[in-house]
Amino acid sequence: MMRSRASRQLSIWIWCCACLLAMGNAEAQTTLRALAKTKGKLVGTSLSSNYIDNPASMPSGYQSTLANEFNVYVAENSFKMSELLPNAPANPFDIQISDLSTAKIDIMVARARENGVGMIRGHALIWHTQAPSWLTTSAPGWTADQITAFATSYIKAVVTYCKTINDAVDAPVRIYEWDVINETIDKSKARAKKRARGSAAKSSIGYRTGTWYDGVADRQAFIDAIFRAARNADPNLRLVYNDYGIEFYGSPKCNFMLNMVGGMVSRGVPIDGVGLQCHFIGPDPSGAGGFSSSDARKFEQTFAALRALGLDGIVTEFDLRLQTDSTTIEGNVTSQQLALQGDQYRLIVATALSQPNCPALVLWGFTDAHSWIPWACPGYGHALPFDRSYAKKPAYEGITTAIKALPTVEENKASSLTTTLPTVSAMTFGQALSNSTLSGGEGSVPGSFAFETLKEFL
Ligand code: G3I
Repeated sequence: MMRSRASRQLSIWIWCCACLLAMGNAEAQTTLRALAKTKGKLVGTSLSSNYIDNPASMPSGYQSTLANEFNVYVAENSFKMSELLPNAPANPFDIQISDLSTAKIDIMVARARENGVGMIRGHALIWHTQAPSWLTTSAPGWTADQITAFATSYIKAVVTYCKTINDAVDAPVRIYEWDVINETIDKSKARAKKRARGSAAKSSIGYRTGTWYDGVADRQAFIDAIFRAARNADPNLRLVYNDYGIEFYGSPKCNFMLNMVGGMVSRGVPIDGVGLQCHFIGPDPSGAGGFSSSDARKFEQTFAALRALGLDGIVTEFDLRLQTDSTTIEGNVTSQQLALQGDQYRLIVATALSQPNCPALVLWGFTDAHSWIPWACPGYGHALPFDRSYAKKPAYEGITTAIKALPTVEENKASSLTTTLPTVSAMTFGQALSNSTLSGGEGSVPGSFAFETLKEFL
């Protein structure tokens, strides 16, 4: 029976739709978010304040990429103290939730909910930069006890407020982790002075000076106190020390960090991980330089050293900037630089996410259209996986290639049956996340939510 022309056209149309649908599904399956879920990993990005405050002000590509590609978010600036406590409180030594601009937290949670993302990293509770001007004016006149009382009560107020969001019945979004203090390690001023005197100086790393909390002479006691305050405010919250220049094992700053957090672990100070910012430099216009295989080895050793301390290593602010031709603030780069950047993205992501104690890799922005690099690092740019028109760059393929090569949760499950896993309590969150052999209740890892509850957020 000769089929009518119309029915032939209909079946061809249905077939085309089916293909497009399949392609759409295949496309959806290859988003960073979908890939990361199959591997028990979190892949995320920072959100610009303009988007958080007014999404309609951003090109549609910004929101759609955010919704499709990532399963964890962090606010680029909105959770910092200058945003959450802009005005001097009635009693700075006993901060109340009512003193905080909690709307900044609520609106970020709303953005995550709108995009179906359930995980938010908090950045950062205590930092020497982006502190409110009233604090940088008043704190130098405070005693050490007053500075500590301010910091611990501020942390208690912020974390307690976030806990009300996290503990809400069927909370769709959780602020599951905070950078408790950011960048408190630095090259000591001594070096600068010696250089001024022209004498060669061995670089010495120490606690950063020139901060609003310098008034606390015993810096480590201050750090221990603020981590304890965060844990007391929310026993389930994951607590992180975050910094840059600590990524490569053997470097003076990495050594100092490992000694610092190692000391905290040995004193029983609650800490769950270290945030490795990973603001790296990529290949130059000649194609030379960037992240090398020896860098990868040192990077891997840092994760191993943290694992030995029972700590996670989290990639918290990843970008890989390229030297440009400086013709404009954004500048231009060569296609060779972009291709090599793709290779180096793959190496960095593969090295990090293949570590059992690396649960998350977070980019510091995702499109070159909204990146801190061009204005903070003149002559550099193009640091992120999407270009200014939200098209995927080789860097994006580098990330997907690296994630695809990771073992799936099922494969981890299988291998965990043959390898002796550390006991649950000794397991880091990263190890638990990628070894979801754990079931109901058994999966609660110190400092993180019941594992089963978290799985639903991936
Ligand atoms: O919001 C004000 C706006 O009202 C004003 O008109 C404008 C002009 O001055 O400034 C805006 O504030 C800027 C803020 O970003 C929001 O865009 C600040 O000047 C600017 O300093 C701030 O820069 C942020 C920087 O931290 C502050 O140190 C960057 O966006 C942010 O990407 C950067 O992020 C840091 C991490 O927190 C820690 N690790 C390094 C990383 C890069 O520096």
